[in-house]
Amino acid sequence: MPQKSSLLVIDDEEIMREILEALLTHEGYDVRLAASGAEGLAHARSASFDAAIVDVMMPEMDGLTTLDELKKLDDDLAVIMITAFASVETAIAAMKRGAFDYITKPFKNDEVLVVLRNAIERRRLVDENRVLRQNLQERYGKFGNIIGRSPRMRQVFDLIIQAAPSRSTILIQGESGTGKELVARAIHTNSPRADRGFITVNSGNLPPDLLESNLFGHVKGAFTGAIYPKKGLFELADRGSIFFDEIGNMPLETQPKLLRVMQERDFMRLGGVETIKVDVRIIAATNVDLHRMMEEGRFREDLYYRLHVITIQLPPLRDRRDDIPLLVQHFLRKYGDENQKTDLELAPGALDLLADYDWPGNVRELENVIERAVVLSANRRIGPDLIPEQVRSSRSFQIPQLVLPPEGVSFKQVITDFEKRLIESTLESAGGVQKKAAELLHIKPTTLNEMIKRYDIRPRRRKAPNGSVVSREAGRAGTAANGRSFGAASSPASAEEFEQEDTGEAF
Ligand SMILES: Nc1ncnc2c1ncn2[C@@H]1O[C@H](COP(=O)(O)OP(=O)(O)OP(=O)(O)O)[C@@H](O)[C@H]1O
Ligand SMILES: [Mg+2]
Repeated sequence: MPQKSSLLVIDDEEIMREILEALLTHEGYDVRLAASGAEGLAHARSASFDAAIVDVMMPEMDGLTTLDELKKLDDDLAVIMITAFASVETAIAAMKRGAFDYITKPFKNDEVLVVLRNAIERRRLVDENRVLRQNLQERYGKFGNIIGRSPRMRQVFDLIIQAAPSRSTILIQGESGTGKELVARAIHTNSPRADRGFITVNSGNLPPDLLESNLFGHVKGAFTGAIYPKKGLFELADRGSIFFDEIGNMPLETQPKLLRVMQERDFMRLGGVETIKVDVRIIAATNVDLHRMMEEGRFREDLYYRLHVITIQLPPLRDRRDDIPLLVQHFLRKYGDENQKTDLELAPGALDLLADYDWPGNVRELENVIERAVVLSANRRIGPDLIPEQVRSSRSFQIPQLVLPPEGVSFKQVITDFEKRLIESTLESAGGVQKKAAELLHIKPTTLNEMIKRYDIRPRRRKAPNGSVVSREAGRAGTAANGRSFGAASSPASAEEFEQEDTGEAF
């Protein structure tokens, strides 16, 4: 069921308050009454409203002043003025000062309702626009954009369906590019909050002060430069969802403040004294091991457990390879449409390459590969030549077929030769960096280094653009090239550089 819209009615005449309350409550609005401008402002400070109805003629604080003050609290609030026929000019003045519309007394019920509906619709659009501007991303419907039929993804869909309707906090875990943000949006879209805001907070790219003023807003004069009061993202997300991306990056000092909102469901603007109640659903995502961060004291334990109410674990793409063809089809269509190319398909050879690759960057990497292929392809059928080198060169490792000569072989010699060639190839894949090569071979760097010495594997040298042959390290650091640059320090202290000739020839 959609949330009720909330209205603030400020009128000094009791009879008017009663009439409006009866009418609006009957229409299903959530109505808050105030008998004076001051009382109305107090309400507006402690809760957010979709629209306000304000009488122009009131003793003490009049309607226009009340309007000005309301707008200072929330510039987007739609304020409808009620005026006696005699003071229509004041009402027009009010519109110039930002009122949404006015109604003259005596009014017909329908008239009030129509103006209100317009005001609320406008408010919704303004909010939505701000949310859209903030995210600059298309809005997603249902699961249409999350592709996957593998059992692991079905589990994810089931969890989304079960968890979406509640208000419970959800933590989405998964490697980079596995679709965490996509899932966060799907949870929101499938929740009763779908017609309200979905606000994304990048937890770690702001200094704590700025992050907190963004989250909680601030009052005028809260700090130098706070000339106007500002609503925070929590207020903007009221009755919607707020998505903390990379929650592991949230500064330790901000974490207790987030925890407080999660527990108390209220907060204060920076520099403010009033508590503001919000109804916000929190969704968080992380690609790091939060448990480990907690153990290392880099993430608060209480927040960790608060976040772990419902956890959705997104599988890496290499663990759901069955989905690769489906994802390929999806991205072919998506980028085909964008590039006015129809009926695109992958040649079987190209698909095999994609199916074998490990996809460290997960779906995002696959999407980029397909986008590139679609843009570059001159034909309807996309061949292996359009698959980037990193995907092609890392086809799963296979020991070459061996044909034994009739006279037999020296076991020791074959093994030695094989070890040597394996090391050479790995060094080549690792760009000459021994530390990385050792990782690829799952051995210690010292072991690799010993073998390099034992087999006397020599670095190949790279041709400089002018045709002279220099070591890359020497070229960069200006040290003498002696042909052996194993020992030349590159940036990581332990990573030694291994140069190779730029002939394109494989070992
Ligand atoms: N299951 C999927 N179906 C279709 N597209 C997907 C899927 N998963 C991810 N994508 C696409 O891959 C890209 C990365 O997804 P998303 O931004 O949600 O990943 P993420 O897990 O948040 O990554 P990061 O940790 O790097 O922020 C997006 O363009 C998204 O549309
Ligand atoms: Mg993300």
